Amino acid sequence: MKSLIFLPIFSAFQLVASEKLSYVAEPQEVYVAPKAASIKTLLDFIDSRENLSNLSAILREPAGFAKAFDTAPTWAFTFLAPSNEAFENTGVYYNSFAATPKGKWWIGNLINHHYIPNSRLTTSDFNSTLSRVQTASYLYINALMDDNEQVKINSVATVTESDIPVTSIPTLVLATISLVAQVSNASVNDIPGIYGPLPAVAVANVDNINPYLKESPGDFAHPGLWHSHDDLERIRKNVLSNKDPWASTFANFSTDTYSLSNYTMQGPHSVLSRGKVSNYTSFAHDARAAWQNALMWYITKDQAHWDRSTTILDAWGSNLTDIIGIDRSLMIGLDGDLFVNAAEIMRWEGNWTEAGASWRGGSGFSNQLYWLFSRQAAVIGQANYGMVSIKSLLSFAVYLDDVTLYNYAMNAFINDPCASLFAMYNSKTGQSIESGRDQSHTMSGIAWTAYAARVGQTQGVDLYELGGNLLLKAAEYTAAYNLNQTVSYDPAWHRCEAVLVGAPWPTISDYDRGVSNAQPVWDIIYYQYVVKRKLKAPWTTEAQNEEGPEGAVSSNDHPSWGGLIWAY
Ligand SMILES: *[C@@H]1O[C@H](CO)[C@@H](O)[C@H](O)[C@H]1NC(C)=O
Ligand SMILES: *[C@@H]1O[C@H](CO)[C@@H](O)[C@H](O)[C@H]1NC(C)=O
Ligand SMILES: *[C@@H]1O[C@H](CO)[C@@H](O)[C@H](O)[C@H]1NC(C)=O
Ligand SMILES: *[C@@H]1O[C@H](CO)[C@@H](O)[C@H](O)[C@H]1NC(C)=O
Ligand SMILES: *[C@@H]1O[C@H](CO)[C@@H](O)[C@H](O)[C@H]1NC(C)=O
Ligand SMILES: *[C@@H]1O[C@H](CO)[C@@H](O)[C@H](O)[C@H]1NC(C)=O
Ligand SMILES: *[C@@H]1O[C@H](CO)[C@@H](O)[C@H](O)[C@H]1NC(C)=O
Ligand SMILES: *[C@@H]1O[C@H](CO)[C@@H](O)[C@H](O)[C@H]1NC(C)=O
Ligand SMILES: *[C@@H]1O[C@H](CO)[C@@H](O)[C@H](O)[C@H]1NC(C)=O
Ligand SMILES: *[C@@H]1O[C@H](CO)[C@@H](O)[C@H](O)[C@H]1NC(C)=O
Repeated sequence: MKSLIFLPIFSAFQLVASEKLSYVAEPQEVYVAPKAASIKTLLDFIDSRENLSNLSAILREPAGFAKAFDTAPTWAFTFLAPSNEAFENTGVYYNSFAATPKGKWWIGNLINHHYIPNSRLTTSDFNSTLSRVQTASYLYINALMDDNEQVKINSVATVTESDIPVTSIPTLVLATISLVAQVSNASVNDIPGIYGPLPAVAVANVDNINPYLKESPGDFAHPGLWHSHDDLERIRKNVLSNKDPWASTFANFSTDTYSLSNYTMQGPHSVLSRGKVSNYTSFAHDARAAWQNALMWYITKDQAHWDRSTTILDAWGSNLTDIIGIDRSLMIGLDGDLFVNAAEIMRWEGNWTEAGASWRGGSGFSNQLYWLFSRQAAVIGQANYGMVSIKSLLSFAVYLDDVTLYNYAMNAFINDPCASLFAMYNSKTGQSIESGRDQSHTMSGIAWTAYAARVGQTQGVDLYELGGNLLLKAAEYTAAYNLNQTVSYDPAWHRCEAVLVGAPWPTISDYDRGVSNAQPVWDIIYYQYVVKRKLKAPWTTEAQNEEGPEGAVSSNDHPSWGGLIWAY
């Protein structure tokens, strides 16, 4: 049934795939289902109510919804209709974001999050025990009947009118509608992390990325992500034969807390937040320990490391059900990326099977992490923030053998107007769109771009050489400036939505200027371009030298340990 209501949306994407991926208007030729005049549709109902006029207006914004809602309802569903009163309480964030192109896409997800397919719920379905209901966004809302006999949704919305049948045909009373009014102001922290179906990037239609896309799950190479089988073998052999930089890096790596098989797991928990409330450090520590123990196992083949890595993966994998907070995509993109890199090694080299999976069809935990990780990072933000999503979406896509997700992220790496390689770095000078902001964001962005390109590399495509080694040009510009050189600066080359972070910036920023292994970003660039490709990169070379060995770090912004994992 779900496909019925989504059909117009999918057709819309198919028809416009030859245009650049973006938030497109509805094309002309969309099929419209015939409708008898006697039938009252969900759209008719919404349009007929004065106090649903805001909802009626936004239904027209994302392509496809008005037509879908105007289809004769021959199936059971429930719709929680936000009333005008609810719209009055949406708050500053909604009000400024909703009108933007990304906001319009997001509104589609918001509508899906109020639609419950295949179930005709009435107030009598609820009691004082909290229950969870899955919506068309695939995520859950919670509901209970409160002391005033009113149904409360997610503790913030109240059902004010309920059990309203939609169609006027007496034998076809299948759908119900409830009006909800938000009683508190929604803040950005309350925005559910829900994103709809990803637009499919049509292989044939987007010329400049054709060679970079996958066509079927069998196209993925495993283990992939950051470490191919050959990469892991190179690491292990060089450590065992005492060759530097591998051996000396390993000497420190192997005694780091996170590499120990007796590392004490700090989780799992079921809900984590990064943003106004940040309580995800247990996951950050455990994800790093899972990844470092995975590498330790590969190098030493000591069963105790196998056990530590996989018990952490299974514990979080089967307990974590929600990630919330405005910066959730950062948590997923940084800590989640380490987690999935650990899982990839253990699955493809260690023969580990994630908890819950069985050949009879029991789904493993990645069925759930799929939505949690990939879909919550799917709205690609601006600049660095967007690149974090891109690099981790590529990782999740490979782990999950998800062609659509991979192509979506790959297209974003090359074509996203605000976060792609070409959007981030000036093709003439290498200046970063964050250069005027501060140097730590600038340097991190370069490394995040390099991690994304690394996933491409294990999957057989060379993103490092794109734009005439554009990433290297960016590294040279930033290395020179952080080594106290003077560089040209164009104030017009700044990030999207720059006003959010104090831009436009008239000059390059010297905030956080300097090179140190507290921000371990130079090894990956140096080994990839200077050592492997034998290209000249004097400033990168000097920065890598000035930085010193990449060792233990206090955050997961970067994996670090470059002398072990990135060296050639
Ligand atoms: C909405 O308007 C209808 C009449 O059109 C009224 O019966 C209902 O109480 C109103 N509901 C809210 C939440 O204002
Ligand atoms: C709701 O509709 C009113 C009247 O058209 C409009 O002024 C208001 O901005 C709308 N609110 C939202 C959140 O769209
Ligand atoms: C509410 O309904 C559920 C499911 O029918 C039941 O398991 C639960 O015990 C009920 N709770 C109360 C407080 O009646
Ligand atoms: C909602 O926000 C407005 C403006 O900040 C404030 O005046 C109002 O008291 C808030 N309402 C609630 C229920 O918090
Ligand atoms: C190993 O750790 C020591 C102590 O922190 C440090 O001085 C040294 O540079 C590190 N060596 C390598 C190769 O990481
Ligand atoms: C964990 O292992 C390390 C290295 O083998 C050892 O030094 C340390 O005492 C152990 N810690 C605990 C809590 O057992
Ligand atoms: C983190 O904070 C959120 C929001 O307050 C809460 O729901 C969740 O239970 C917390 N998780 C942990 C592990 O403290
Ligand atoms: C949760 O984590 C614990 C280990 O801490 C594990 O025993 C359990 O199986 C996990 N899964 C669930 C659903 O509780
Ligand atoms: C994993 O399974 C394959 C095929 O059964 C086997 O050849 C390999 O030795 C196993 N590896 C480990 C680490 O158990
Ligand atoms: C750059 O200048 C700063 C401040 O004068 C100094 O601390 C730093 O050592 C210099 N860096 C290099 C690589 O010369």
